[in-house]
Amino acid sequence: MITSLPVTETPADQIPAQDLGFGLHFADRMFTQRYLRTRGWHEATIGPYAPITLDPAAQALHNGQMIFDGTKAYRRPDGDINLFRPERNAQRFNRSAARMGMPEVPEALHVEAIRELVRLEARWVPHAPQTALYIRPVMIATEKALSIRAPAEYLHYIILSPVAPYFAGGFAPIAVHVPHAWVRAVRGGTGEAKTPGNYAGSIVATEEATALGYQQVLWLDALERRYVDEVGAMNIAFVYADQTLRTPELSGAILHGVTRESVLVLARDMGLDVREERIDFFAVCEDIAAGRITEVFGMGTGAVIAPVGRLGYQGRDIVVGDGQPGPVARALHETLTGIQFGLRPDPYGWTQTIRVRS
Ligand code: COI
Repeated sequence: MITSLPVTETPADQIPAQDLGFGLHFADRMFTQRYLRTRGWHEATIGPYAPITLDPAAQALHNGQMIFDGTKAYRRPDGDINLFRPERNAQRFNRSAARMGMPEVPEALHVEAIRELVRLEARWVPHAPQTALYIRPVMIATEKALSIRAPAEYLHYIILSPVAPYFAGGFAPIAVHVPHAWVRAVRGGTGEAKTPGNYAGSIVATEEATALGYQQVLWLDALERRYVDEVGAMNIAFVYADQTLRTPELSGAILHGVTRESVLVLARDMGLDVREERIDFFAVCEDIAAGRITEVFGMGTGAVIAPVGRLGYQGRDIVVGDGQPGPVARALHETLTGIQFGLRPDPYGWTQTIRVRS
């Protein structure tokens, strides 16, 4: 049972689509619930979006016990709203919680909170093509204690942000830098959890990439610095001229992307030979140079499908194909977004429609 508090509504339609950016504006309401070891989850509430008060000794601030996730709500042509596989995000949220020693949230309540929040904030779901309402669930450890142990108190909250695609250029190809000095995650570490530390550790490498003229970082494995893991904000896939699509296996060091999982299903159904396996970055470079790899693209909730036009490693640039988006990325993007926005049938049962037309 979710309690709803009164909220002052602000006009959502005053943000022009070109000013949305990613995660800059927030809807008027948020969902919160609290956890006490002695009481379990309680006080599920939808109330005003507002700052949260934390004790300066809250364990999240010291031990970094925090997780988040991301999913989106899409405006359909008939005005109603689609959610895309919210239960998969709830499951991934709980997978992250388990890895970080945090309590799981009841999945049905998590999805109900998303549905109810989106229904109440329907006016925040933008109408412009390729824009959406990004849904960001978070959990933080709130108990006041400096010792390193599983806390007894947590806050779970969900906020909403109307967004354009993560990359300002939309479907324009991005340039990706492969750092030599840093690694993101190691098998057995926290790489497959969506926990802020993984992202904090990536910022210096992303800054370096930006200074060198790239938009993202492609991480190699931490042990041999040879095998492809993932890109900063998304998973990655390689398309070969023989119609094979390869993506790194879920090794424990990379994220279980819901977009990744969906794209692999679509790619199989398009007739591609899909393989999830260990991918040698140096073989990738040779395969791109020889024309055996014809396309590289990233896939994630924020980024959707982002073609990679250029990879940079130790001062050398490798252009993928002619540097432009390829037909496979284009077809996957069109099919995936077509399903998400309700522009084409959803034979997979991935979407849930929230009726908001009066
Ligand atoms: C997402 O795609 O949902 C993410 O969490 C990646 C983030 C960098 C926007």
